[in-house]
Amino acid sequence: MNSLSSAPAKVILVGEHAVVYGKPAIALPLPDLRANANYHPGTEPLVVHAQDLPRAPLHWSARLQDPSDPLSLTLTLVCRELGTSELYGTIDLRSTIPPSSGMGSGAAVSAALSRAVAASLQRELPLAPLNRIVYEVEKLHHGNPSGIDNTVVVYERALYFAKNQSWEFLPELPRMALLVAHSGRNASTRAAVAAVSAQLQQNPQRVQSIFGEIAAIVAATRACLARDAQRQLGALLTENHRLLQALRLSTADLDALVQVALDAGALGAKLTGGGLGGAIIALVQPETRAAVCAALQRAGASQVFSSTIGRQ
Ligand code: MEV
Repeated sequence: MNSLSSAPAKVILVGEHAVVYGKPAIALPLPDLRANANYHPGTEPLVVHAQDLPRAPLHWSARLQDPSDPLSLTLTLVCRELGTSELYGTIDLRSTIPPSSGMGSGAAVSAALSRAVAASLQRELPLAPLNRIVYEVEKLHHGNPSGIDNTVVVYERALYFAKNQSWEFLPELPRMALLVAHSGRNASTRAAVAAVSAQLQQNPQRVQSIFGEIAAIVAATRACLARDAQRQLGALLTENHRLLQALRLSTADLDALVQVALDAGALGAKLTGGGLGGAIIALVQPETRAAVCAALQRAGASQVFSSTIGRQ
C-alpha cells in the first residue's frame, strides 16, 4: 500500500549556538513547511528519489552503504533499529523546506525518510529511537549538533532544550504571528558551528560571557511566552540578534532583513539557526504582518513564509 510520511521545518526562536555548549534554547516546529516521503511498494530493492535535492537517486544495497551520505546513513540506521537489511519499492522525497537555510531541512528529510522506511516494512518507529537516528544523521550536517533540531522536528512540539539535560515541551503557546524570510544565500551550519568553536578557543571569556547573555534571553523569553508579553518577546529576539552579530554569525543580508522588518513594524527580528546566510524570523502582529512581509520581499528576501504559532 502507498503511504505518505512527513516531518516539519523548525526555527530556533532564541538560543542557537550557545545551546551547543549546554545553554538552553527554544525551538518551534513550522507545521506548514514539510519534508514528505511517499512510499510505493515494489519487488525491486529500494530506490529513493529526492526531487528537490541536487543529487542522484539512491539505490539501496545492504552491502554498499555510504555513511557519509545523509540518505544512505538514514537507511542504514533505520534497518539496524528495525533488525532488517531488506528494503523494496520506491520512496519519493519532496520538501517545501529550503535546504541550507537554518530551517531544519536535513533533519526533516531524514525523519520523513525514516518514517517511510518503517511504513514500507509495516513497522512502527517510535519517536525516541527515531530521534536518535536523526541525531546521528545531523552529525553529518552540523559536526557537533546540540540535538535541538532533530528533537523539535521529530516530536513536532515547541521545545525548551538544554543539551545532555532533560528537555521539556513548552505548554500551549500564545497565538503568535511569525515571518521567516530567506536571505537567498545558503548557509552551512557546520561552518557556523566551527567558527564559534574557533572564537571560543581564541577568546573563551568573551564568548562565554555572550553565551551567558544569550541564556538570560532564553530564560526571559520563556517567561514572556508564559504571559503572552509579545512586545517584550520581540525586544528579546532583537537583542539575541545583536549577540549573534557579536559572534560574527550575521551577514550584511541578514542584518538588512532584520532592520527592514523592524522599520516596517515587526516587534522583533533575528537570524535563526546557524547564521552566515539562511533566514531571519520576525515577530509581527496580525495588523502589521502584510506590511512587514511586503517590505522583506522588496528588500530582496528570496522567500517569505508566514506562520501562525500557538493557540488557534
Ligand atoms: C542550528 O539550527 C542550531 C545550532 O545551535 C546548532 C545546534 O544546536 O546543533 C547553530
